[in-house]
Amino acid sequence: MLTTAAVVNEPGGPFAFEEIEIDEPRADEVLVRIVASGLCHTDLSVRDMLPAEMFPRVFGHEGAGVVEQVGADVEGISVGDHVLLSFRSCRACERCAQGLVGYCENTLVLNYMGFRMDGSTTHHRGEDPVYGSFFGQSSFAQHAIAYADNCVVVDPGLDLSLLAPYGCGFQTGAGTVLNVLRPTSAQSLVVFGAGAVGLAAIAAARAAGAGQVVAVDLMTSRLETAAGFGAVGVDPSSVDDVVAHVKELTGGGATYAIDTTAVGAVVKQAQQSLAIGGTLVALGLGAEEYPIDAVDLLQNGKIIRSSVEGDSDPQEMLPRLIGMRAAGDFAVDDLITRYDFADIETAIADSASGTVVKPVLVW
Ligand SMILES: NC(=O)c1ccc[n+]([C@@H]2O[C@H](COP(=O)([O-])OP(=O)(O)OC[C@H]3O[C@@H](n4cnc5c(N)ncnc54)[C@H](O)[C@@H]3O)[C@@H](O)[C@H]2O)c1
Ligand SMILES: [Zn+2]
Ligand SMILES: [Zn+2]
Repeated sequence: MLTTAAVVNEPGGPFAFEEIEIDEPRADEVLVRIVASGLCHTDLSVRDMLPAEMFPRVFGHEGAGVVEQVGADVEGISVGDHVLLSFRSCRACERCAQGLVGYCENTLVLNYMGFRMDGSTTHHRGEDPVYGSFFGQSSFAQHAIAYADNCVVVDPGLDLSLLAPYGCGFQTGAGTVLNVLRPTSAQSLVVFGAGAVGLAAIAAARAAGAGQVVAVDLMTSRLETAAGFGAVGVDPSSVDDVVAHVKELTGGGATYAIDTTAVGAVVKQAQQSLAIGGTLVALGLGAEEYPIDAVDLLQNGKIIRSSVEGDSDPQEMLPRLIGMRAAGDFAVDDLITRYDFADIETAIADSASGTVVKPVLVW
C-alpha cells in the first residue's frame, strides 16, 4: 500500500514528504497507523552520520499509533490496539535472555541498518528500496511496520501524543535513574543537560526520592523546569568553576552524574563533579571525542559508563512510567509541544534553539 512518509534523500538532508510503498506486514510484523511521533536527537545525529549509500531513508523512533494489521505469528497484539513503539531486540540472544535487551547482539541490524534481517526493505519507491526499519518502526510516516518486541500496548483512553516520547527519550532518562543508578535519599545526582532526556531523569530522581539533585544547563527556561522537579539549577556561564560549584552544592561531590549534552568538555566536568567512588552515565551521543580526567578517575575509584535506553526493557519500563504518570510521580506532559507533521522542519529548528524541549509530530 501507499503511505505518506518524511523521506530524507541524503546525509543531513531535509525531510521531504512523499507517498511511498510500504509492504504488507509479514507473519512476524504488525502495521501501525501512526498518530504521533516524538522527535529525538538521535534521528538527526544518525541522519547526519550515515553514508550516502544508506539513503533514501525514513527516520522516526518514538512512534505511537493504532494497530491496523497483525501478522499470523504475532501474539499479544490485536487490530485496534493502541501501541507505543520503542527500540527492537531479538529476545533470543544471551543478553536478551538476561533482560538486557538494549544490549541485544542484533541491535545494529534490528535498529539502524534500514532493512530486515534478510536484507529486504519495508519501504519502496517503485522498484527502488527506501531504507526503513529505524528502531523497527521508521515512524515519521503515516504507517509503520513494527514487531511484537517493540510494540507496547497501552490503554486506548490515553493521549498517544503525550506518550510517544516514552519509547526513547523519556525512557532513557528515567531508566538511567530507576534501573542503573537507583539513588537513595542519602545520595546526590547532577544532570548535565536538562533537555528531554535530562529532565526525564530529574523527574524520575524526584520520584525515586533521591537526595540533592542539581541540573546544569545553559538555558534558563530549562533550569526553571528542572527546579519544578526539585532540582537546583546551575548555569555554567554564570559561575567561575562549574565543577567546584556542583561539589559545593552536593557536599563534596555528587554520588551520581548523568551527561546528556554530548559535549566532550562537559562530560569531563561531569566526571570531575563526582564524589570519590561516584558513577557517571554518559548518555549523549555524537561527540567526536570524550576526554576523561584519567588521574581523577584512577585515584578516586570513579566509574564512567554509558547506557542504552536507560537499561530499559520497554515492555516493562513503559507501563511502569505510565503508571507513575497516572500517580502524579512522572509529570512530564508539559515538556511536550505538538506540531503538525508537515511542520517537522520548524519542530527541528525550535528544538535546536531550545524554545521547545520535546517536539511531538502529529498527523
Ligand atoms: N543513550 C541512549 O540510549 C540515548 C537515547 C536517547 C537520546 N540519547 C542522546 O541523548 C542526548 C540528549 O537528548 P535530548 O533529546 O535530551 O537533547 P536536548 O537537546 O533536549 O538536551 C540537551 C541539553 O543539553 C544542554 N547543553 C548543551 N550544551 C551544553 C553545555 N555546554 N553545558 C550545559 N548544557 C548544555 C542543552 O541546552 C539542552 O538542554 C542526545 O545526544 C541524544 O542523541 C541517547
Ligand atoms: Zn537479542
Ligand atoms: Zn531517541
